[in-house]
Amino acid sequence: MSKPKIAIVVGSTRAARFADVPAQWITKIAKSHADIDVEIVDLRDWPLPFFDEVASSAWAPSQNEIAQRWQKKVAEFDGFIFTAAEYNHGPTAVLKNAIDYAANEWNKKPAGFVGYGSVGGSRAVEHLRLAAVELQMAPVKSAVHIAWGDFLAVRQGEKKLEDIEHLNQAGAALVNDVAWWARVLKAARQADAIAGEAQAA
Ligand SMILES: Cc1cc2nc3c(=O)[nH]c(=O)nc-3n(C[C@H](O)[C@H](O)[C@H](O)COP(=O)(O)O)c2cc1C
Repeated sequence: MSKPKIAIVVGSTRAARFADVPAQWITKIAKSHADIDVEIVDLRDWPLPFFDEVASSAWAPSQNEIAQRWQKKVAEFDGFIFTAAEYNHGPTAVLKNAIDYAANEWNKKPAGFVGYGSVGGSRAVEHLRLAAVELQMAPVKSAVHIAWGDFLAVRQGEKKLEDIEHLNQAGAALVNDVAWWARVLKAARQADAIAGEAQAA
């Protein structure tokens, strides 16, 4: 079995976003994990309209061309780590919209989160965990929460995430969890596919 492929999804798109900092930091940690391949997926490169299809793509194929490409992109991966900004105690609209624009492509794959904000983006992360369950994902326990003191210090250039030991430990635990679930679930999905082919033959 080839190495599981993990996407680091950059979950906010505004010009002045902080998201690049945690995305680059967690990508470096993930790339140091020997058992996974890692790619950044930046939602700025996926200008999806606000959801405008007749149904979830679980029930009806999407008509929008970017949505079709987005679903193929999501399908490439075996697991996901999302940067999770918190806007008014929820996830960013752009991330939720991108999540809604795929369905089966998320199924039976792990989801991990790097939250940031006053309480480490925890309210946005908890919301995203619920969406992940509905999408038949496996949201992992370990998470990164960059809380206000660290967030401000990094934002103002007084500290780097790399220098904050408790965050490095949380980042490594998160990547380990996602890598483990990605490997196990990839094998299980492959076994299901083989069993399905055998039944159809
Ligand atoms: C519309 C809006 C709402 C926000 N609401 C919250 C919030 O509820 N909780 C919080 O911790 N931070 C909140 N913030 C501050 C964000 O945590 C901070 O701006 C962060 O940098 C946003 O991530 P981004 O820079 O990647 O977009 C909010 C920011 C915006 C723009």
